[in-house]
Amino acid sequence: MIDERINQKYLNKIKLFQKYNKHYYNLNKPLVDDNEFDKLKLEIINLEKQYKFLSHKDSPSYSVGFKPSKIFKKIKHKTAMLSLGNAFSEEDLINFEKKILNFLNNEVGLNIEYSAEPKIDGISASLLFKGGKFITGLSRGDGKEGEDITENLKTIKDIPHEIKLKSFPEEIDIRGEVFIQNSDFKNLSNKFANPRNAASGSLRQKDAKETQKIPLKFIAYTFGYEKGLEVSTQEGYLKKLKEWGFKTNPLNKTIGSIKDLMKNYNEVEKKRDQIDFDIDGIVYKVNDFGLQKRLGNVANAPRWAIAHKFSANSSVSKIENIEIQIGRTGALTPVAKIKPVKIGGVVVSNATLHNEEEINRKDIRIGDTVLIERAGDVIPHVISVDLKLRDKNSKKFNFPKNCPSCGSKTVKDFNFTTKKKDAVRRCSSDGYECEKMAIEKLKHFVSKEAFNIDGFGKKIVENFWNLNLIKFPQDIFKLDYVKIEKLEGWGKQSVSNLKYSINQKKIISFEKFIYALGIRHIGLENAKIISKNLKSLRNFISLSKKNNFDNLINIDGIGETQISSIKNFFKNDTNLFVLQNLEKILTVKNAENQKTDGILNNKTFMFTGKLSNMSRSEAKSLIEQNSGSIVSNVTKKLDYLIVGEKPTNRKIDVARTLKIKILDQSSWLKMLK
Ligand code: IVH
Repeated sequence: MIDERINQKYLNKIKLFQKYNKHYYNLNKPLVDDNEFDKLKLEIINLEKQYKFLSHKDSPSYSVGFKPSKIFKKIKHKTAMLSLGNAFSEEDLINFEKKILNFLNNEVGLNIEYSAEPKIDGISASLLFKGGKFITGLSRGDGKEGEDITENLKTIKDIPHEIKLKSFPEEIDIRGEVFIQNSDFKNLSNKFANPRNAASGSLRQKDAKETQKIPLKFIAYTFGYEKGLEVSTQEGYLKKLKEWGFKTNPLNKTIGSIKDLMKNYNEVEKKRDQIDFDIDGIVYKVNDFGLQKRLGNVANAPRWAIAHKFSANSSVSKIENIEIQIGRTGALTPVAKIKPVKIGGVVVSNATLHNEEEINRKDIRIGDTVLIERAGDVIPHVISVDLKLRDKNSKKFNFPKNCPSCGSKTVKDFNFTTKKKDAVRRCSSDGYECEKMAIEKLKHFVSKEAFNIDGFGKKIVENFWNLNLIKFPQDIFKLDYVKIEKLEGWGKQSVSNLKYSINQKKIISFEKFIYALGIRHIGLENAKIISKNLKSLRNFISLSKKNNFDNLINIDGIGETQISSIKNFFKNDTNLFVLQNLEKILTVKNAENQKTDGILNNKTFMFTGKLSNMSRSEAKSLIEQNSGSIVSNVTKKLDYLIVGEKPTNRKIDVARTLKIKILDQSSWLKMLK
């Protein structure tokens, strides 16, 4: 509650700030004198400093002079800028390494070495150098497409404009972090809430002269596309960066074991206050580029790197109430409303209780005094209850058996993988019939990874829902802009921006479209797999028309759980109604054909038995890297059956009958040269 009040206070000030700005810059008729104006600016910045959750694109933090530009040209990254998975404990690191070793099939004698690099909390940038010259500099954007901020980046002294050394590659995207040192930040601290905001705000200035006034720094740590880079380890690359004149982090280290990673982590964390820039953890990267290449990526993070975040913070507070939130898939999530406490500099007033089982297991009750933990970006949660302080009259919490939003019965599903009932209780309604679920579905639809509609945030979804402007995803593309323009907080410009962002997304990739539908168990990775295999929305829709879901069974990576979820999706008339409408309004681009220049193009493969020195996942990704594809049944469509140790004989028999080529591992590897 307190968060909302603070947020409202903050938004009011931002609104006033915009008004003053408009009168001063656009109408040339200042409403207040400079002192008053500066006072308001300072108030906003101080609020942001005190409450880290406050942020707004129109905050003075993002405008050194006025108007941070929204109109930078967008440019595709030649190689995507990935993000990193998080680790919080030694156990997480052990699991991280286990997964790596499993993927590499636990090769005997393999000892993984890591490059451990303190994770600077700044803004990442990608700098394209061609023929030694700095050509274009992009922000990360959504990872696939960034903003052209070349001119601003050129004002940073740490970025060389030309490198004449022979060892410098013909072409390379040098990637790293733009940031402000704490000592420099102190001198501008009246203008910005924190160094990160300062870096971000000044990088986004339309006028590079404004950027130049801020002492931005650049530290390089990775690369994107490259042609002619001759190094085989991250350590070697970091060395080369220095030779070429880039700054690298002086605290980078190469480390050979998890135990030593932990030691280094503890040492760096202790030194954290003495370092002149903000770090929020340590990034570990598998040092050997050969291994990195074999490991590849999952969704949008590499398998070969992880960010080990700094200490989890905790604090004691009291549960004032337990509320039930309903998610997009109907999951009922209990949330503890706690007496606001500051944890790691942030005011926390909500803590997730995860699910009914968690409440029962920890016997969490309203009125309890609890230990709350807030680690990194993870939602704060209850660690333990202080039973000594429990009120004698306190009662066990009764989890609702009906959905608090629509009244439908709540159910616990059977989980095919664990062969047990789920811990999570769900609303049994069909999605759009439950108000809360429908709102969450719409929020998911416009979210960054789905349609990514600029400026269409969660608050706007709620607002438009309440005003009856949107009920289904298709309504987003048929908004009543005349009505919106008359709403409080909206004007000609903001409506025209919104309209522009929405219209831009009328052409969408098939994989994003599937993900946006919010089908349970179809996350980014599965949406990608379906898109790659079914190729078009037509094919997807015809699954249900022909009631033929068998096609899905053959898709590697799609299991019983996903298929049953897709079937359920199509069983629901509202979903069909939404699909039909969206199909009319949108252009859903067919999946691009996979790389077809590989040696295994148009060839299908299947494995049976254990491979030596290679896991199934690695074998699969090798085939895909060479444009081949994997199937999971022996049918006429199969070109090659690859036989490892202890194969399933029945598969070999069927393959023989169908005259499919049967190869052992070494003959298959020879195909790949
Ligand atoms: S490597 C795939 N190295 O952390 C590799 N990132 O969550 C991804 N960061 O967006 C980047 N220090 O802004 C890498 N030494 C470092 C880093 C680092 C800070 C930031 C970067 C990135 C984010 C990933």
